[in-house]
Amino acid sequence: MKLTHLLPLASLWPSLAAADYFFRLSGSTKFPAINNQRLRNNASTTPGVTLAPYNPDDHFSRAAVANPDDPYTPLFVVPTNPHPPPVPGYYGLTSRDVDVPDALRLVYTYRPDDEAAEGRQFYYEEWKLQRAMGRCGPNGKLMLSYRPVTGGQWRWFAVKETNMLGFEKWVPWYIKRSPSNEAIMATWEYDTVEIDMVEAGPVNSEAPGGVEE
Ligand SMILES: *[C@@H]1O[C@H](CO)[C@@H](O)[C@H](O)[C@H]1NC(C)=O
Repeated sequence: MKLTHLLPLASLWPSLAAADYFFRLSGSTKFPAINNQRLRNNASTTPGVTLAPYNPDDHFSRAAVANPDDPYTPLFVVPTNPHPPPVPGYYGLTSRDVDVPDALRLVYTYRPDDEAAEGRQFYYEEWKLQRAMGRCGPNGKLMLSYRPVTGGQWRWFAVKETNMLGFEKWVPWYIKRSPSNEAIMATWEYDTVEIDMVEAGPVNSEAPGGVEE
């Protein structure tokens, strides 16, 4: 490959330093209360936005970029409680518990092979973090997307779910709108959203949200 091809590419990923990130949701017009909220674990492996008042033990979902120099990368789980499992965890998009065509949910797992078992889909190796282009150059938000898996227009939606603890939770789904999921989605409460990655302060398991800030 010629050097001229490498240069523009490199300049797009200049600053994915060895930082941890939080996931931040925005862009909902129907549900403004969920905008600019970081995703929390809420005692589950499904990150989502819950509404105030917040439980200080409800830690923010936290990620590290596995391959900062590559255009596509896995996102590691950064544990915020002591004694994490001795194997790496991954954020990914799963078809588990999803009975809707062309729709995947954001989850994390320490067992990616199990997650993909039994004909389920699980995508986790090709996350893309890209600076939104502002008027003055590439200094905008670090937008999160996933390399298109089956062609077509996939994008983020926040879907209102009631979790196992009985709390309302806005869960990021990655969906390609199609005639096959239209009827089911018509019964949901949801909105189109964006997810960007914000730099995280030092882990502190005792601090509210699991971070010192
Ligand atoms: C889950 O979120 C709700 C709403 O913010 C909160 O009241 C509850 O304590 C949280 N539970 C856990 C285990 O994080």
